[in-house]
Amino acid sequence: MNRFWGPVIKPILLSMRLNNIIEIGAYKGETTIQLLNYCQKTGGTLRIIDPLPLFDEGALNKLYKGYYQLYKKTSLEVLPMLKDYEVVLIDGDHNWYTVYYELKLIEKETLASGKTFPLVILHDTEWPYGRRDMYYNPDQIPMEFRNPYAKSGIRQGQSELIQSADAVNAQLNNARTEGGIRNGVLTAIEDFMKDSQLPLELFRIHSNNGLGILCQVEEYEKKVINYIMNDSNL
Ligand SMILES: C[S@@+](CC[C@H](N)C(=O)[O-])C[C@H]1O[C@@H](n2cnc3c(N)ncnc32)[C@H](O)[C@@H]1O
Repeated sequence: MNRFWGPVIKPILLSMRLNNIIEIGAYKGETTIQLLNYCQKTGGTLRIIDPLPLFDEGALNKLYKGYYQLYKKTSLEVLPMLKDYEVVLIDGDHNWYTVYYELKLIEKETLASGKTFPLVILHDTEWPYGRRDMYYNPDQIPMEFRNPYAKSGIRQGQSELIQSADAVNAQLNNARTEGGIRNGVLTAIEDFMKDSQLPLELFRIHSNNGLGILCQVEEYEKKVINYIMNDSNL
């Protein structure tokens, strides 16, 4: 997600004056720091959701106290408690079940508040996880939504997992096959859009594992998003 910050995410947030942000999946905090610098300058707030963040919490607190709240739980546990947000960055558990129900919870809050759907920015909308699930914690995914998986590598252009030097992410719990129903981040977004009554648009960048921006925006805002995305050269 961090690679998209300078050329895409920051200019879009600035141009649309969006300040109240949720980040799902912080890991070592590379994007988190960018978001917190942004919040310090704009007077924004950040809510960070990650059950196992790997950044130095003491250092973050020293630099950005008052600008953020950290929730060390999963997105599906925390999102029902949150209100009043304009932007959600989704880069947590890259599987159909988690992403579909994250979007459902955001939609529920949108409908309850009477506001417009927030700007939802999703990483990993292309290969390898656009059409393939990955599970950080398979036991947390209900059986009926969990695809057969294994700790084995992924090779582009091949559906089955493979143990090979040119395969990626062999240390992760990857779905055994690519494609089909309820498999992958992009499939979850498409299914959510089909099931939603809201007039949503999806903007996509195909490089760097993919970025999707799902939102409910005016015509002039579409032009701004398209301009920034095309101008980013990503
Ligand atoms: C790909 S990393 C995030 C990278 C980060 N966004 C960046 O730009 O550097 C995924 C993170 O999601 C967290 N995670 C896994 N399952 C999650 C869930 N259900 N809810 C929230 N975060 C989750 C993991 O602990 C991990 O730190």
